[in-house]
Amino acid sequence: MSVPVNRPERVRATITVPPDKSVSHRALIFNAIADGRATIDHLLDSADVRSTARCLAALGVEIDWPAGSPRATVTGRGMHGLYESDDVLDCGNSGTTMRLLSGLLAAHPLLSILTGDESLRSRPMARVISPLRKMGAHILARKGDAVAPVVIKGGNLKGIAFESPVASAQVKSAVLLAGLYAEGETRVREPERSRDHTERMLAAMGADVFDSGAVGVRPASRLAPLSLRVPGDISSAAPWLVLGACHPDAEIVLKGMNTNPTRTGLLDILSAMSATIEITEERTMGGEPVADVVVRTSTLRGTEVGGALVPRAIDELPLVALLACFAEGTTVVRDAAELRAKESDRVDSVVRVLGRMGAKVRARDDGFVVEGPVKLHGARIDAGGDHRIGMLAGIAGCLADGDTRVENGAVDVSYPAFWEQLANAASGTATIR
Ligand code: S3P
Repeated sequence: MSVPVNRPERVRATITVPPDKSVSHRALIFNAIADGRATIDHLLDSADVRSTARCLAALGVEIDWPAGSPRATVTGRGMHGLYESDDVLDCGNSGTTMRLLSGLLAAHPLLSILTGDESLRSRPMARVISPLRKMGAHILARKGDAVAPVVIKGGNLKGIAFESPVASAQVKSAVLLAGLYAEGETRVREPERSRDHTERMLAAMGADVFDSGAVGVRPASRLAPLSLRVPGDISSAAPWLVLGACHPDAEIVLKGMNTNPTRTGLLDILSAMSATIEITEERTMGGEPVADVVVRTSTLRGTEVGGALVPRAIDELPLVALLACFAEGTTVVRDAAELRAKESDRVDSVVRVLGRMGAKVRARDDGFVVEGPVKLHGARIDAGGDHRIGMLAGIAGCLADGDTRVENGAVDVSYPAFWEQLANAASGTATIR
């Protein structure tokens, strides 16, 4: 699919933020091993979350989730009730599916084989395999245990104190899930704190989750089902936040955005860049803080992003490069080598896509440097099947002179309605639910 994009004269939109992808995966996976039935509302119906649902169904979990429905019912099988799948588990493009299920299946005496698409089969798996092996699971993977397919024969785990070399919620969650089944305590320490949805949700389901500098769990004998409404995803609000701040005549209202402090790095970056942002109606949804956010045309200045801010904005950093094209001065993103391990190498993707549109951007080993402001020009962009790069190119096209076409945008992974909503927002006035 090739999507045409142009700069609109003005942007006025009120958008209900699509459901959080991280919370959607976890709501399905954790309820799958709970004792009883849970209803999940405002569940993200996207390719990644469907991959999780499909894998769980193959493991014997009853999930009633009609196509196009924002509501699913999960009948949990209890902590020890999963069946051995009679086929390979296909995680599609979804790293969260593969890594969290690896942790869960490491605790089950079943033979499981997990695979995914070409992108997922090139992403690092040693980071999960190594701690799960230390806990006692038998795991093998391709290329010297580096990449999927992954083969797991689990069971009989013991708790470990794991020092993760990377700040990764997927790794942390895999180890904590395995820890629910292990003998003794399991602890995970990270170089910087990653998103904490797993800790929040497991605690709400009755698990003994603690934080003693490292995050930990004690073994559980059962989890209570948890019905919830999934909050809006700040990662899906992010393209709008950037469009609103950079476009010369914009006002965008975002309703129900997750403001979990482990995810709000982009808000801090926008403030540091002097963006005009207003946060109102703060409330709670599905055990997470949410708010409405208004963003308006802003005069931006460059900033430095590194350290603890990086995991708090990891999926939004490509969009920070675009912000930086409209900001006065230099913007540096460092400590972000993890960008190279995403659905594509996002350092290279950012440099290639924005460079083609006229940005002054160069790669660092651990991030990028952008000089602003520049005038971007339209171009034909191949997003390489990476959804976040597809959305980056779409928003860049709305801010550039001339015509842009985006190919291989892959937005169905996390935000299937993105192109339609972009066209509506660009039509001048829109209310998008
Ligand atoms: C996610 C964690 C992050 C993030 C990904 C979703 C999660 O990945 O980039 O989009 O749901 O736990 P890492 O754990 O690899 O940093």
